[in-house]
Amino acid sequence: MAKITAGVGSSHVPLLGVAVDQGKDRDDYFGPIFAGYDWTREWEKNEKPDVVVLVYNDHASYFDMNIVPTFAIGCAERFGICDEGWGPRPVPDVEGHPDLAWHIAQSLILDDFDMTIINKMDVDHGLTVPLSMMFDKPAKWPCKVIPLAVNVVTYPVPSGNRCWALGEAIKKAVESFPEDLNVQIWGTGGMSHQLQGPRAGLLNREWDNRFLDMLESDNDDVRHIQHIEYLRETGSEGIEMVMWLIMRGALGKTVKTLHRHYHIPCSNTAIGHIVLEPAD
Ligand code: DHB
Ligand code: FE
Repeated sequence: MAKITAGVGSSHVPLLGVAVDQGKDRDDYFGPIFAGYDWTREWEKNEKPDVVVLVYNDHASYFDMNIVPTFAIGCAERFGICDEGWGPRPVPDVEGHPDLAWHIAQSLILDDFDMTIINKMDVDHGLTVPLSMMFDKPAKWPCKVIPLAVNVVTYPVPSGNRCWALGEAIKKAVESFPEDLNVQIWGTGGMSHQLQGPRAGLLNREWDNRFLDMLESDNDDVRHIQHIEYLRETGSEGIEMVMWLIMRGALGKTVKTLHRHYHIPCSNTAIGHIVLEPAD
């Protein structure tokens, strides 16, 4: 039987992809950011997940305003790398797991989550930067990836509560897949940041850390945070944090924290990272 063995939360700041690609990740500016991922890189070498369900958002890189899926699941064999303006990042293509992806899609849809099924897609920094943070610069990514894209770019975006419930349904879906697979779920985006307008550069260390505390808790108060609070306290792009709730909802009631890291600033943003293990 397949099993979700861990959840990883991480910001997906594009500048960190540039730092890896240009070999600047241990300089004075980026060193303290990447040091917070060293523990996870070692841990992943032992964990060896077969598949990562990677929850992220497309930043109008592959999708555009013509079609805006709220929740989309990548069922393809392979996903290419988006050109976000400077050419595609020099990272390997992402290999999917169509059998598990279709199984999850069926289970979710029969559980009343109306997923969009994607059979062709390129992926942007929302997905590739977390892979670089966790796995550095391999010739080939060490696991299969099922991209799960969430609309957090155009209102209305899904509620935190709905995201948590989707996570619960993903756990059920994975656990009903007959093959023995070590599956991780990652939630990406955030933390506090606003990239445009008068409040550009807004960061909120206290709020971000309270959010991380809430993820560690065995109550589910975090799922009830309203959009307006994310916007007010964490800036317009802080809303990306609802994606971490899909990861947390998939881990069950109680979790054990294996690792946690927070750093300000990184580009215009606060960077946060957490590794959680189901403890029920
Ligand atoms: C930036 C972009 C993002 O998508 C994000 O999540 C954080 C930062 C940026 O352009 O700096
Ligand atoms: Fe983002």
